[in-house]
Amino acid sequence: MRLASVLLCVLFSFVSPKSTLDGSSSHHVQRRDTKPKSNYTGVIGTKLEVFPTWFVSAGDNVTINCIVHNDKMKYGDKVYLHLTWTNMRPGNRTKKVLVSQPASAGIAFELNPVTHEHQGVYTCDDNGSLPEVYVHDWHSMLWVEDAPPKTSMEVMSHNRIQFFSNEAFTLGCQLPNDNAQWKMMRFNFWKGTVTECPGQVSSDHRLSSTITPVHLDPYILYWCENPAGDRSNSLNVSIASVATVVLESPPLPVMEGEDVMLRCFLRDKKTKEISFSFHTSYDKNNRLIDNRLGRGPFEQEGNFTLKAVTKADEGVYKCEMPEGGGSLDSWLSVKARPVEE
Ligand SMILES: *[C@@H]1O[C@H](CO)[C@@H](O)[C@H](O)[C@H]1NC(C)=O
Ligand SMILES: *[C@@H]1O[C@H](CO)[C@@H](O)[C@H](O)[C@H]1NC(C)=O
Ligand SMILES: *[C@@H]1O[C@H](CO)[C@@H](O)[C@H](O)[C@H]1NC(C)=O
Ligand SMILES: *[C@@H]1O[C@H](CO)[C@@H](O)[C@H](O)[C@H]1NC(C)=O
Ligand SMILES: *[C@@H]1O[C@H](CO)[C@@H](O)[C@H](O)[C@H]1NC(C)=O
Ligand SMILES: *[C@@H]1O[C@H](CO)[C@@H](O)[C@H](O)[C@H]1NC(C)=O
Repeated sequence: MRLASVLLCVLFSFVSPKSTLDGSSSHHVQRRDTKPKSNYTGVIGTKLEVFPTWFVSAGDNVTINCIVHNDKMKYGDKVYLHLTWTNMRPGNRTKKVLVSQPASAGIAFELNPVTHEHQGVYTCDDNGSLPEVYVHDWHSMLWVEDAPPKTSMEVMSHNRIQFFSNEAFTLGCQLPNDNAQWKMMRFNFWKGTVTECPGQVSSDHRLSSTITPVHLDPYILYWCENPAGDRSNSLNVSIASVATVVLESPPLPVMEGEDVMLRCFLRDKKTKEISFSFHTSYDKNNRLIDNRLGRGPFEQEGNFTLKAVTKADEGVYKCEMPEGGGSLDSWLSVKARPVEE
C-alpha cells in the first residue's frame, strides 16, 4: 500500500496534469501485479490523446494518439504499444486490440469520420513484452453525442458539477415511457472502467443515484442508458482532490438571455465547514474576468453574475480564493433561445 502511494507520487510528479477539456485523458497505474513492485527495474508511462477532443459528434474526424511519453527512450524501442478499444454496447462491452506497434513509432489511429460504432473506452497500453518493467496506462472515453439524447440527466441535489471528496450528490434521469430497463452508468477516466452507479432508485419516472465520490477519482462521466443503447446526455463530474475550493456553475446548458450566478465555495480542511469569501476571483478560458467590461455590476459578496448570457459567455470557468487556491475547470454551455413565431 505504501509502495503503491510512493509510486503514485512518482507518477504524479512526471505526468502532466490531467484535463478533460483539452482532449487529453488520464493515466492509471496498470495492475499487472504478478510480482512485487520492488522487483520492477523500470517504469514506463504511456499517454493517450484524442484530437480534437473526446466529446464529438458523428461525422467529425478524430485522431487517437498512443505514445510512450516519459521513458526517455530507455525501453521505448523494446516496448510494443497496444491501442485497445472496449465498445459501448450495453451487455457486450468486448475489448479488442486495434493496433500493436513498437513504441518508438507511436500510434496515430484515425477515425475519419467517427460514427456511433466507434464509441467506447480507448486504452494506451503495452503488450507485456518487458515483464520487468512497470507500465502505467492511459484511458479515454470517446463519446459520440446522440442528437438529441433520448432522455436527460441532471444533478438533482446541487447546481454544480464539482464536488469535494466525500461530499454526496444525487444524479437523476427522466425515464421515458419505453418500458426499457434504464441504468445509470459511469466511466472512470483514471481506471478506464465503465460500471453501474450504486444504489439506483427508480420512482416517479425518474432514476436516481446518490454518489459519494472519493478523491482518487477526479474525473467521472455519468449517463443513463437502456439495453438498446439509447442514452441520455452525459455529465462530466469533477472532484476537488488537492484543492479545497469548488465552483458552482450550471451543469446543463443555459438559455441565452438568462442571468447566471457563479459561486465559489471553500471547505475547511479540518472542520469540513463550507464557506465563501468576498475576495474571490473568477477566470474564463484562463483569463481573469474583469469587472470593468461595462456590463456590471457583477459582483455580490464574492459571487459573480453573468447578466443576460450570450453564446460569447460560453467557455471554461474557474474561481480562486486567497484562502484556498483555485477550483477545477467547469464548462458553461449556452444554448440559443428557440425562435418565436
Ligand atoms: C464534457 O466535456 C466536453 C469536453 O471536454 C465538453 O465538450 C462537454 O460539453 C462537456 N459536457 C458537459 C455536459 O459539460
Ligand atoms: C523478486 O520477487 C521474488 C519473489 O517473487 C523474490 O524471490 C526476489 O528476491 C525479488 N527480488 C528480485 C530483485 O528479484
Ligand atoms: C458481442 O460483440 C462481439 C464483437 O463485436 C460480437 O461478435 C458478438 O456477437 C456480440 N455478442 C452479442 C451477444 O451480442
Ligand atoms: C475528414 O477526413 C477526410 C479524409 O481524411 C476528409 O476528406 C474530410 O473532409 C474530413 N472531414 C472533416 C469534417 O474534416
Ligand atoms: C508483443 O508484440 C510483438 C509484435 O507483435 C511480438 O513480437 C511479441 O512477441 C509480443 N510480446 C508479447 C509478450 O505478447
Ligand atoms: C453569494 O453566495 C453566498 C453563498 O456562497 C450567499 O450566502 C449569498 O447570499 C450570495 N450573495 C448574493 C448577493 O446572492
